Amino acid sequence: MEKLIPIINKLQDVFHNVGMLDTIDLPQIAVVGSQSSGKSSVLENIVGRDFLPRGSGIVTRRPLVLQLIHHPASKTKTADAAKQEKKAQDNETNENEWGEFLHIPNKRFHNFAEIRDEINLETDRVTGKNKGISPLPIHLKIYSPYVLNLTLIDLPGITKVPVGDQPKDIENQIRKMIVQYISKPNCIILAVTAANTDIANSDALKLAREQDKRGDRTVGVLTKLDIMDNGTDCLDVLQGKVIPLKLGFIGVVNRSQADIHESKAIRQAVEDEAKFFNNHPAYKNVSDRMGIPYLSKQLNLILLNHIRHVLPEIKSKIAQLIAQAQQRLQEYGVPVNEGGMSNGALLLSLLTKFSTDYVDVIDGRNTDLST
Ligand code: GDP
Ligand code: NA
Ligand code: MG
Repeated sequence: MEKLIPIINKLQDVFHNVGMLDTIDLPQIAVVGSQSSGKSSVLENIVGRDFLPRGSGIVTRRPLVLQLIHHPASKTKTADAAKQEKKAQDNETNENEWGEFLHIPNKRFHNFAEIRDEINLETDRVTGKNKGISPLPIHLKIYSPYVLNLTLIDLPGITKVPVGDQPKDIENQIRKMIVQYISKPNCIILAVTAANTDIANSDALKLAREQDKRGDRTVGVLTKLDIMDNGTDCLDVLQGKVIPLKLGFIGVVNRSQADIHESKAIRQAVEDEAKFFNNHPAYKNVSDRMGIPYLSKQLNLILLNHIRHVLPEIKSKIAQLIAQAQQRLQEYGVPVNEGGMSNGALLLSLLTKFSTDYVDVIDGRNTDLST
């Protein structure tokens, strides 16, 4: 079952390559929340790396489609190698971890600071340098021994006040962009809300409820539990007593701005987070269901279940697309474009290859196929 996520990722690439990303409603997890609610922090902690652009204002100005791919470390695990590897996790560069952008094929970015620079460059390339926004996504894959297979989409934060080249109706444009993703029935909504704000009026949860009325596919994430007013907690919300969500709420503690100034490593932050939950009077009884490691495990499970659920539909859509493409080719021959191959022919060859390669996995007969 674990192998299904890489397959879905491949399908996503296929459709991206032929410019038909919206043809099949593939399962993905979209991260939604107000500006500064902690979305980037959650994503970086899930990846275990500092790689997202930082700053004030809207930093995420194009959707970032982030495919996390679990990739075992290449070296043999002597005690010494394990120690080295642990150290490498705190460096900017590690040979066992890298990123690849779809717009720069075949280049491995082992330095995560360079990944951040490239996200900034590629954002500006489309939106201009003055804080404009664009719905055109950036595609980034991260290979690492420390991630679970997941596809996450970072979206611009909900904001009310335009700056720079941003349009006057920035709030509406961002909402529209978010809705484009989260309105799809296959989209899991990761609704991020800071616990030190009015949770019941969270933009993220409101937007999620508009698109997911029964609360079937929304995961609530509460950040900043460490900076709530003294003597207050949000155990009620975390236990689902305030806002009902089938997939529940998970509390997390990310690095504060001061932690980031002091270059606190993510690994340290995750250790501190565990201590926070284990020692907190309100949360210690639920601490095994809190924190970033639990969140990423749950997301991986949710995504797998979701994919299993929608597989028959995806399979029949692929069959339909193959039939359509074949018919079009028979009727009109092969209209050749500059690339030498028409989109129809390319799609047909990719889909056919895809379905022959993975038909067993898609049918659930062979769940151990290695990719
Ligand atoms: P985004 O705009 O939603 O992507 O939010 P960021 O992840 O950039 O976080 C905004 C600010 O809040 C940063 O200064 C973070 O360090 C801080 N922050 C995020 N999560 C937490 C948290 O759980 N606790 C504390 N104390 N600060 C946090
Ligand atoms: Na919010
Ligand atoms: Mg952000």
